[in-house]
Amino acid sequence: MPDEISVPLLDLRAQYETIRDEVEPILREVVESQWFVMGPKVADFEAAVADYCGTEHAVGCASGSDALLLALMALDIGPGDEVICPSYTFFATAGSIWRLGAKPVFCDIDPETYNCTAETILEAAQRCTRLKAIMPVHLFGQAVDLDEILKVADEHGVPVIEDAAQAIGSRDSGGVRVGARGRTGCFSFFPSKNLGGFGDGGMVTTNDADLADRMRRLRNHGMEPKYYHDEVGLNSRLDALQAAILHVKLRHLDAWTDGRRENAADYDRLFDAAGAGTSAMTESELPIRRPIGASSPAFHIYNQYVVRVPAAIRDDLRAHLVEHRIGHDVYYPVPLHMQECFQDLADETGALPETERAAAETIALPIFSELTMDQKNHVVETIIAFVRAHAAVGTS
Ligand SMILES: Cc1ncc(COP(=O)(O)O)c(C=O)c1O
Repeated sequence: MPDEISVPLLDLRAQYETIRDEVEPILREVVESQWFVMGPKVADFEAAVADYCGTEHAVGCASGSDALLLALMALDIGPGDEVICPSYTFFATAGSIWRLGAKPVFCDIDPETYNCTAETILEAAQRCTRLKAIMPVHLFGQAVDLDEILKVADEHGVPVIEDAAQAIGSRDSGGVRVGARGRTGCFSFFPSKNLGGFGDGGMVTTNDADLADRMRRLRNHGMEPKYYHDEVGLNSRLDALQAAILHVKLRHLDAWTDGRRENAADYDRLFDAAGAGTSAMTESELPIRRPIGASSPAFHIYNQYVVRVPAAIRDDLRAHLVEHRIGHDVYYPVPLHMQECFQDLADETGALPETERAAAETIALPIFSELTMDQKNHVVETIIAFVRAHAAVGTS
């Protein structure tokens, strides 16, 4: 494969070229209307997201982080309360809990899916004395086992706040789209998400009308009616430009997700042919594991395609990928329970072995829907050549 090929981790320009003709008139329309914050474009997009996720309500806000914050605030989570969440996730999951004076109680993950499970949540629940909510994360676009997690939440009498920031359109093992079964589903429209805006944006889905009303007030300083405040909220409104752009993009979301899924299937096939294992295997010809995916009716949307190699060679592989102009990243190199800002929680959390192992062994590869077959071949051939040369280092 000629090495002139370069493969970015994400190519938003390639996607934009396919929708430019639809987006530009919408941008002009919003600018001509001079209605920039909330308004009909936001209401229309909220209705479209609720419909897409199969929920009664959807409340737009300024980011996925704020979606989590609004959900927690509307559920009255506050100082001293405990919320279980994974440590192997983006910072905002735990950051939103901490910002309200509540305590993130970190749970471990399953090494095959990288998601938290009912078992790891139950283990964390044993460390709780004031458990108020459970916040599972549908990591990398793959749904957690909500059936089992909802049972645990019911047993403890607490709500589930789904962190679905990476997972719009993903379906759980019952074939239900994420964001529809927890008390709330929290989505991010950060540009790198499968449905990404031209800036920040977020949304909370729910079937609870009172909760939706409260979040609508909370996103606007707790104001209702105008200039009257029963409680203190945020300024976290979705702007009309983002909503209008996202609404156009929503119509393409399933096709883009299909593209990502085809890319994942091609990677799987190429890795398998080269002798790699899956994340569900303990033995394979080569010390590299590709993701196991999800079987129907579950539906993985591949916000990320994450492989793992022995920790001893991970960073050298990264350097090798840079040399061969292959974009990649590590999600996430430092688990949240090991972050400086959460060191006060370190003793009570103890070790989370699967989380720590995943943080040391994983690499996310380009998976955006416009990838070409040449690019996919280049990615896999480059990785396999490197791993073969280091095959003596077995995966743990
Ligand atoms: C799992 C998870 N939760 C929350 C967020 C926060 O979303 P935002 O960046 O839109 O604030 C993200 C965004 O990357 C995320 O990946």
